[in-house]
Amino acid sequence: MKPSSSIEKKHTSPRVWMIFLLVVFASILVTSQAADRAYKLSKVFSAADDMAPERIFLAVTAEPATSQAVSWRTRPTSNTLQAQIVASPGGPIKESEADVVKAVVESVVYGDGQTMYHAGVVFKNLKPSTRYAYCVGDGQTWSEWNHFRTADDKPAPFRFIYIGDQQNNIKSQWSRVIRDALLKAPDARFIVNAGDLVNDPFIDQQWYEWYDGAGWIYRVIPSILTPGNHDLSDSGADEVWRPQFVLPTNGPSGREELSYFVDYQGVRLISFDGNAFDDEAQLEWLEKTLAGNPCAWTIVVTHQPFYSTGNKRDSTDRRELIVPLFERYGVDLVLQGHDHTYGRTSKIYAGQIVKPNEPGVVYVSSVSGPKMYKLNRRNRPFMARMAGTLQLFQVLAVNGDALSYEAYTADGKLFDAFEIRKTDLGRTRLIDRAPKDEHPREEDFYKEDESSGAR
Ligand SMILES: [Fe+2]
Ligand SMILES: [Fe+2]
Repeated sequence: MKPSSSIEKKHTSPRVWMIFLLVVFASILVTSQAADRAYKLSKVFSAADDMAPERIFLAVTAEPATSQAVSWRTRPTSNTLQAQIVASPGGPIKESEADVVKAVVESVVYGDGQTMYHAGVVFKNLKPSTRYAYCVGDGQTWSEWNHFRTADDKPAPFRFIYIGDQQNNIKSQWSRVIRDALLKAPDARFIVNAGDLVNDPFIDQQWYEWYDGAGWIYRVIPSILTPGNHDLSDSGADEVWRPQFVLPTNGPSGREELSYFVDYQGVRLISFDGNAFDDEAQLEWLEKTLAGNPCAWTIVVTHQPFYSTGNKRDSTDRRELIVPLFERYGVDLVLQGHDHTYGRTSKIYAGQIVKPNEPGVVYVSSVSGPKMYKLNRRNRPFMARMAGTLQLFQVLAVNGDALSYEAYTADGKLFDAFEIRKTDLGRTRLIDRAPKDEHPREEDFYKEDESSGAR
């Protein structure tokens, strides 16, 4: 029998219309799902592997030359949770030569009512500038052996990665950014994360994406985390943050692991919890931490920007309260997130752009995840570089009296670059190396009648 040919038909049949509508409906469904993908957890737990460690994460400690923090998740809890550590040999690791450190365990109840257990260990009395191997487990079930390297105990050149908000569609669209960052700077000593790690801290699925998106990177490169507004509950509590991570406790009383500082090879890095920027005890602590800085360089990491580039935001109160401290104590650079745009200022002092060799502070706000806001015109005059619609990662290098900074877009293009040099007079000089392109584009700015919708 000869098959019928549609060419002979002059009118579209109802059946064809039905198929067409079905295809359109299906494609709308696919598109909306792509915006917020669902993933299956990497591990389906069974009675046999209930204790399998997962979400293994290194954090920089307050003594990075001689200690290292690691945390992981397990369920249910056990009093045998522990970690093993040994100086990495060139060949096979002998378990009998490893030291055992008992873990501290804390629980978190997530929004779906599940209780999870987070174990943590700080390896202490380590040798500076040494590669170690570690694994975590419960004495029966272990993770793989992973490496980390302790810091030098004196100023020495190093690189690190800095990223802004991850927050949304983390696994589907952020993972490519952090993987490219590591390929660009495989020797990065740590990752500075300026907050808004996830959107809803009580939704376990988002944490799953946060760990799985980075793969093994978190297991071998430690992080310096500062909390964003999305990382704490609406009341500002830290029920998920503090039990989950093992972060330095040298912050102000009651805000330990949120605000803290790390001295790393000649750089003092300060995590300042911007969610409580006007907390008096925290401000006192910040001033003391800036005044007592023995390092040549000072970098502050905080979530909410002092010079906003996103939406209709401004930060007059933050600027009035905190910026004078930065200027008084010679902060070199402030790394921020929150605005889901990119903005890097010229050198600023007392609310004015100053000459490259005058005292002043450089502020950056960046974003690594796919959530984008419209640009804000308010602070445009302060910006040396500005963009909406880009996901970025940054690589910073400190080498003696020079700090160099490079920002790359998700497709690996150099988007921004500058250098800060310490001069003989105890001052700094800013050298701008930003490439020129079409950014900021007019269509990326919000219009006056547009609602911001930002949180
Ligand atoms: Fe955010
Ligand atoms: Fe935020």
